Amino acid sequence: MKVAIVGGTGKTGRAVGAALAQAGVDAHPLGRAAFDDLDTAFAGVDAVHLIAPNLHPDEPGYVGQVLAAMGVAGVRRLSYHSVASPYAPSMPHHLGKAVSEDLIRRSGLAWTILQPCAYVQNLLPALAQALERGELAVPYSVGTPFGLVDLDDVGEATAVVLTEPGHVGATYELGGPALVSVADVAAAAGVRARRTEPEDGTHPWLLAMFAYYDEHGLPTGSVPLTSLLGRPPTSVEDVLAREHG
Ligand SMILES: NC(=O)c1ccc[n+]([C@@H]2O[C@H](COP(=O)([O-])OP(=O)(O)OC[C@H]3O[C@@H](n4cnc5c(N)ncnc54)[C@H](OP(=O)(O)O)[C@@H]3O)[C@@H](O)[C@H]2O)c1
Repeated sequence: MKVAIVGGTGKTGRAVGAALAQAGVDAHPLGRAAFDDLDTAFAGVDAVHLIAPNLHPDEPGYVGQVLAAMGVAGVRRLSYHSVASPYAPSMPHHLGKAVSEDLIRRSGLAWTILQPCAYVQNLLPALAQALERGELAVPYSVGTPFGLVDLDDVGEATAVVLTEPGHVGATYELGGPALVSVADVAAAAGVRARRTEPEDGTHPWLLAMFAYYDEHGLPTGSVPLTSLLGRPPTSVEDVLAREHG
């Protein structure tokens, strides 16, 4: 099976590509240059896994380009990397994914939509600093709940939906095994947690996301990911042990 991973050269795409290769798939990561001629990039592929770059100003437009090129190339199978709680109108980049999901559901293609929570891996750079300073600082509440998920688990789940039957027409939220706060993550790493102010010049959509996280976190269920993996998702503690030894 040959799968084109659109956005495959980024952080998420590399994890998905590794998991697909592990599953015996012929995985082809595509970066932005592929958009010069997507029809050719999709020639001969069996499926497309679609990842948008972070904070793309027009994600529905980006997704629409991919859907059109799939039509030209005659590719029918699509999985889309969305986000947990996409219909959150106060977060523009989530809303872009909600609109994109709708385009995909009305595309006539054989689609699967994955809605991952924030990755545990997002906190690793701040945690590396925290291990020196004794304090994990983030620009939102350290007490609100998240279903933080291991990016490697997300990659593995993507490989499952593309290589095993029964996932066409499905939308799966992908959360880690338990709801955790940043304070819980800090405690697991043996450091304190503190809310800090966003840096000057932070992208306005990230400021909107921090405001949402401040109030609500991003709680995300674990049942679909447990089912896809056939085991409990990897815990924060296990990700930290794997990354930091
Ligand atoms: N981080 C999280 O916790 C999380 C959770 C859920 C969902 N997500 C979603 O996951 C997605 C991927 O995140 P990521 O951090 O992996 O992204 P990323 O590292 O920014 O991905 C960049 C990818 O997009 C390509 N790209 C960049 N600009 C482009 C453009 N203008 N046109 C076409 N392709 C372009 C890059 O190609 P080049 O290599 O050629 O530049 C690369 O393949 C985002 O949509 C994000 O919202 C993230």
